[in-house]
Amino acid sequence: MKSISLNIEKVLGFIPRETIAGYEARVKVAMDALHHKTGKGNDFLGWLHLPSSITPEQLADINNTAATLRENCEVVVIAGIGGSYLGAKAVIEALSNSFTWLRPRSSAPYIVYAGHNIGEDYLYELTEFLKDKKFGVINISKSGTTTETALAFRLLKKQCEDQRGKETAKKVIVAITDAHKGAARTTADQEGYKTFVIPDDVGGRLSVLTPVGLLPIAVAGYDITKLVEGAQVMEAACGPDTPFAENIAAQYAATRNALYAAGKKIEILVNYNPKLHYVSEWWKQLYGESEGKEHKGIFPASVDFSTDLHSMGQWIQEGERSIFETVISVEKTQHSLKVPSDEANLDDLNFLAGKRVDEVNKMAELGTQIAHVDGGVPNMRIVVPEVNEYYIGELLYFFEKACGISGYILGVNPFDQPGVEAYKKNMFALLNKPGYEEESKAIQARL
Ligand code: PA5
Repeated sequence: MKSISLNIEKVLGFIPRETIAGYEARVKVAMDALHHKTGKGNDFLGWLHLPSSITPEQLADINNTAATLRENCEVVVIAGIGGSYLGAKAVIEALSNSFTWLRPRSSAPYIVYAGHNIGEDYLYELTEFLKDKKFGVINISKSGTTTETALAFRLLKKQCEDQRGKETAKKVIVAITDAHKGAARTTADQEGYKTFVIPDDVGGRLSVLTPVGLLPIAVAGYDITKLVEGAQVMEAACGPDTPFAENIAAQYAATRNALYAAGKKIEILVNYNPKLHYVSEWWKQLYGESEGKEHKGIFPASVDFSTDLHSMGQWIQEGERSIFETVISVEKTQHSLKVPSDEANLDDLNFLAGKRVDEVNKMAELGTQIAHVDGGVPNMRIVVPEVNEYYIGELLYFFEKACGISGYILGVNPFDQPGVEAYKKNMFALLNKPGYEEESKAIQARL
């Protein structure tokens, strides 16, 4: 069985191999801190062994709940924000048909998302869309108190009960939250919803391999056992026993830190398969929230090529040389489509006739790599054999492990997110939330 791999050859013109090799000792310190739980945030390391610790019984429980939702719902709303929805969305979008919305519904319900914004129009349009649908809700919040998610859930719960009756609502609303605390837990216990627990030691952005990610993915009809299998293989491949030179999580963490030290402050995650757009969104959340602290950290950005070659491509080719690229390069497509020959050849494309569309895409990828490297942009490639559950599972765990190592090399606590509290405090003060009286007065005085 193949595995995902990492190619750093096109970084070596910018950073000598020895400089990257020089990170081996720092990677070892980081790896030890993760595996011996001696580093910062060491009470949030439950993600490290999630793949190997998930039991068949847990997977069966998730699959059974998914089957109940699939049988009873035309639409399932995933309510969550940040790490509580991005992992599921990344996997579902990567595996789904691009035109799934326009096709007749298969046995799987349509999956829609809520609780990740406070857009009134979005929520209005969602409630309108759901009006004539048999819908269910998966309410995902570790804290159980996140405003965006709680607000959406309040609307969805009422609508579901009004439309489907309280008894059916109980069957089609599932909560994934803390074992004991938070409003989501209290509501679920009072109403008698099926619940899944987000372990205390797993933070939101590292929760895709818990029911947070696995239940929505199973509802969408994808094989979570295969996803976990891929993650298990990566857990072993990126473990402390794999030598530095062969450990792709270690190599990736070392290379991006070496680039950062050399002034490359922005990492752009690139894909040539539009279905991977939300893998990039998940990755940005993982790396942005884990590393951007203490006024340090690579800024994680992303583009979809070749689409964005016609927008951001100019900046990447000739803008400030503070960037590097990490390309998710997919070897094999799911389908085959050849360019047809055209007698008139008005578009001059007959030189492509008979070639696969993917061959054109691959040459766009290679041509772009050469151009960007020539233009001063170091380029790494993560090679993914194909987009399926197994390799996506590998990819997710690879990024998670590399993020833990990278954050420790950087010297921050990769497992907290103190910075996200600032906006919440101001928002609550501005909305006169009880308990925020002093903050309300102070912020009003500043307006
Ligand atoms: O990674 C994180 O911890 C965050 O992105 C959270 O997942 C996000 O803020 C949602 O939090 P909660 O699950 O408590 O609603």
